[in-house]
Amino acid sequence: MTPQRYTLTAALPYTNGPIHIGHLAGVYVPADIYARYLRLTGQDVAFICGSDEHGVAISIKAKKEGITPQEVVDKYHKMIKDSFAEFGISFDNYSRTSAKIHHDTASEFFKKLYDKGDFIEEVTEQLYDPEADQYLADRFVVGTCPKCGHDEAYGDQCENCGSSLNATDLIDPKSTISGAKPVLKETKHWFLPLDRYEDFLRDWILKSHKKDWKSNVYGQCKSWIDEGLRARAVTRDLDWGIPVPVPGGEGKVLYVWFDAPIGYISSTKEWAEREGKNWEDYWKKDDTKLVHFIGKDNIVFHCIIFPSMLKAEGSYILPENVPANEFLNLEGRKLSTSKNWAVWLHEYLEDFPGQQDVLRYALTANAPETKDNDFTWKDFQARNNNELVAIFGNFINRVVVLTDKYYNGLVPEAGELNEEDQKTLDELRAYPAVIASSLERYRFRESQNELMNVARLGNKYLADAEPWKTVKTDENRTKTVMNLALQIAASLAVLSEPFLPFTSAKLREMLNITAGPNAESTDTVAQLQWDDLSEQKPYVKAGHKIEKGTLLFSKIEDEQIEKQLEKLEKTKMENKEIPSPQPPKGEQNKSEKTPPSGGGGTPQKEIIQYEDFTKLDMRVGTILEAEKMPKADKLLVLKVDTGIDVRTIVSGLAEHYAPEDIVGKKVTVLVNLAPRKLRGTESEGMILMATTAEGKVIFLNPDVENVENGAGIS
Ligand code: MF3
Ligand code: ZN
Repeated sequence: MTPQRYTLTAALPYTNGPIHIGHLAGVYVPADIYARYLRLTGQDVAFICGSDEHGVAISIKAKKEGITPQEVVDKYHKMIKDSFAEFGISFDNYSRTSAKIHHDTASEFFKKLYDKGDFIEEVTEQLYDPEADQYLADRFVVGTCPKCGHDEAYGDQCENCGSSLNATDLIDPKSTISGAKPVLKETKHWFLPLDRYEDFLRDWILKSHKKDWKSNVYGQCKSWIDEGLRARAVTRDLDWGIPVPVPGGEGKVLYVWFDAPIGYISSTKEWAEREGKNWEDYWKKDDTKLVHFIGKDNIVFHCIIFPSMLKAEGSYILPENVPANEFLNLEGRKLSTSKNWAVWLHEYLEDFPGQQDVLRYALTANAPETKDNDFTWKDFQARNNNELVAIFGNFINRVVVLTDKYYNGLVPEAGELNEEDQKTLDELRAYPAVIASSLERYRFRESQNELMNVARLGNKYLADAEPWKTVKTDENRTKTVMNLALQIAASLAVLSEPFLPFTSAKLREMLNITAGPNAESTDTVAQLQWDDLSEQKPYVKAGHKIEKGTLLFSKIEDEQIEKQLEKLEKTKMENKEIPSPQPPKGEQNKSEKTPPSGGGGTPQKEIIQYEDFTKLDMRVGTILEAEKMPKADKLLVLKVDTGIDVRTIVSGLAEHYAPEDIVGKKVTVLVNLAPRKLRGTESEGMILMATTAEGKVIFLNPDVENVENGAGIS
């Protein structure tokens, strides 16, 4: 089999802060699993990343800390690079965009498009801070999002609704440097006319990738293309970045989103030079598969803008897939670097030394693959204690301890197999293909679960065969069972490598086996490759010696979890938030900061996205009729004019209002709630109510006198 060539890229992280679990879960762990899997199966892989060191976020950080941008990026580049290494993210190269090779590559790329006439040159009016005396690029401007009304949208993007914006679209813009209201001032820039690539993008994405791209990715691309593409400025008035290398470019730099993805190319060059490879094979050969691992906020840049740049340049391949993930939340809230709402990798390692695989495992088990997901410390603990310790660790421990005890660590000979043995072996040999198939479709949670099923298979096999009992009665049977259990353990040692690389290494050491492209067998170490695992032969032979075991996983105690939760509570306090109303251990928190009861004390529900909110159809309506539901103390049957229709709504108001008192009231109605039968009457919607501190239920009917029925509420 000739190896398939892959270029795998993982989004270049901004070097304006350390990295946290959200980065790991969304991008780097899945990318790493994929890269490791491909290498294990003998493919030719370049797994590429580096630091994204330009951009306004870094200038902002430098200003805030009173140091130079270079000092900022030096600090975080090192921290981030170290974190990746510590978590076993197996990049073939980790570069940085301040490297000379990158400046050269990006400049050249820009010049080539410039020379070919691929840019539009335009003098436009840009926001300018008259107090700070400088142009304000994207992130130096905040204001209200014209799409969703979020009042802290940035000049390039609203983090609330994900819309990509132009700074001049913002309502009530403010400079983040001086707070001044920006004025418009003329400046010349270069634009990439994306509209020229619309046909190409339609063919390439909408026609060719409808089936194989994730629906979240495809959907975002489609809506971008359908909305019509506009020219995007690819230069900025800034002093931190790559100088614009053409006449008239003095004092300007390349837009960070122009230079950063080119960083994948320069990082590949750096790697190829070091390893004696040809970088162009990985970027220009049609049979190379290019895959970008990113988070959902990067979709447009990787699916629309960068491909248009590559297309314009002309000699590059395009990504074959862009398996973007959604976001991870932490304990129900959006991760936030500025609010310190995060689990920082360097801090995790201090509290859970040597337990990188546990975090990798928990993050993959909860990966935000198809929707935003929540990381909770309780779940983390449960994943470790109930799965890694109780299933995987327990199985390996039993196998290793019994082999040592019964056979001095030598793999015993298998005798005749009974039906159960054969079934178990058949199942075992089917797993590599099952796991591979999930991985190849970028379903990492599913594939990791299949890996655990191998350990489950092992546990079940041992529990059914009970070698600790047969050892007293049937020597041959016991040998057969232990031989098979050792085959399962060996399989786990290889299959777990992409997911749990540290555990896999320990396990391979325990079992004296090697795997992977450079694996070589010796007298005592057996070589076992992924592809061997589906074959009809033993993975480890009788007589092979294994080592005495060490525990692969250890239990995480409640105190450790409480400590993490306390840390987060402290962060909330530092953010001057009301402390959580649920004090630990059931004690009523009497602190004066406790909010008054009456609803204010319920914790905030899980974060929802703007798209979720827009699903709610709320209208102003009028109650036309009201009557008590027979034989029900609490229910009133209402006829409500919703502006769309007159419909029946059953509401739990009878204890609070007499029917005659509410006829004619303007109310807020959720009209698209799925209809539900209550005591035989179908209720088609819901009236929104609030409970006061005294327990009184009141209508949510703010000033609606002049609003017509049917008016939408947002
Ligand atoms: N730094 C960007 C982010 O963290 C990602 C850049 S990806 C690249 O969102 F393609 F531009 F490199
Ligand atoms: Zn918005």
